[in-house]
Amino acid sequence: MAQQPIVNYSLPPWIQFGAGAIKNLGKHVRSFGGKKPLIVTDEGVTNAGILSKAVEPLKHAQIDCAVFDAIQPNPTDLSVLEGLAFHQAEGCDIVIAIGGGSVMDIAKAIRILTTHEPPLENYYLDVGGMDRVTSNLPALICAPTTAGTGSEVSQASIITDTSGHTTEGHRKRIIKTPYNVASLALLDPELTVGMPPGLTAATGMDALTHGVEAYVATRYHPITEGVALQALKIIGKSIRQAYHHGNDIEARGEMLIGSAMAAFSFQRGLGAVHSLAHQLSTEANIPHGIANAILLPEVMIFNLSHAAKGYADIAAALGVDTSAMSTADAADAAIAEIRSLNEEFSMPKGLGIAGLKWERIPKIAKDAMLDHCYKFNPRPCTETDMRDLFEAAF
Ligand SMILES: [Fe+2]
Repeated sequence: MAQQPIVNYSLPPWIQFGAGAIKNLGKHVRSFGGKKPLIVTDEGVTNAGILSKAVEPLKHAQIDCAVFDAIQPNPTDLSVLEGLAFHQAEGCDIVIAIGGGSVMDIAKAIRILTTHEPPLENYYLDVGGMDRVTSNLPALICAPTTAGTGSEVSQASIITDTSGHTTEGHRKRIIKTPYNVASLALLDPELTVGMPPGLTAATGMDALTHGVEAYVATRYHPITEGVALQALKIIGKSIRQAYHHGNDIEARGEMLIGSAMAAFSFQRGLGAVHSLAHQLSTEANIPHGIANAILLPEVMIFNLSHAAKGYADIAAALGVDTSAMSTADAADAAIAEIRSLNEEFSMPKGLGIAGLKWERIPKIAKDAMLDHCYKFNPRPCTETDMRDLFEAAF
């Protein structure tokens, strides 16, 4: 019998889930031995009045905190260094992220550099960073204010690298290690009720894409195979309701737990959608979830020859009645269901409308091949395939 390779399976972090969970923040900081938290957030969260929901329980527990809110969408390694300097100047000893994926990714990277020698570049996955990050890290609490990225339970941080190691300019790079997981994911749907429908749809489609790509990814990981499908059932049931009725706390809660599950499940791997989408945020400033939503049906068509059974399961998970369908028809129905969600959410009809310039496609197709995600795509991809996929989704 051939020897099995040694694999790593990590379980999700401690999750506290429920409306009002943020009120326990002071208690949690104390339980981790924190005396002065660094809160990483952004101006949108502050202006929406969400930050005060986190600061209030800290005040109540008489815990002084420092707030770093200079985070932009698609944040760069420069934001990490700025946050680190602030952390050191303020004498913080625990990190709290209150925000969406960008905020949590930056907070996770700041946390690494508080105990690991710079430069940040040493810790990217593509240069062997996984072996350089140790368990010597301060506690990190992540409270997401969107339901999509799942960074609060994932091992990944996506950072825009400005150091120029690309065919031309910046690109997104990944830090990924089992240690790069929050100590506590605080899932409070009350932090997400203020999200406008457009953001609910974009982040929700990111979560859905995580579930779809993870379920058909090639890595052997039977634990997350089941979780991916269950995440899609929950997201399929609640995404429309959360979009149309943002104050529905139950739907918001389901989207939060569904997106956390989908992100946990991509320990199994993601796929070509993410390798393509990562180029579009730096190249054309297209929000990650919107890029995924536009690309997902095209990549599914490309993958049909290798993933029809998986897509048929996904159609059923999303609520399509596939009982009288062949596998091929059910797989097509999964693609149709995703197109219908895009239509209902008024997603841009193509990458061109979303802001991509046609003449940039060869360059970003080349960069997509530097991204790690497509390596787990069910159908192997070449640079020509990447170019064809960008063109099909244009
Ligand atoms: Fe994503």
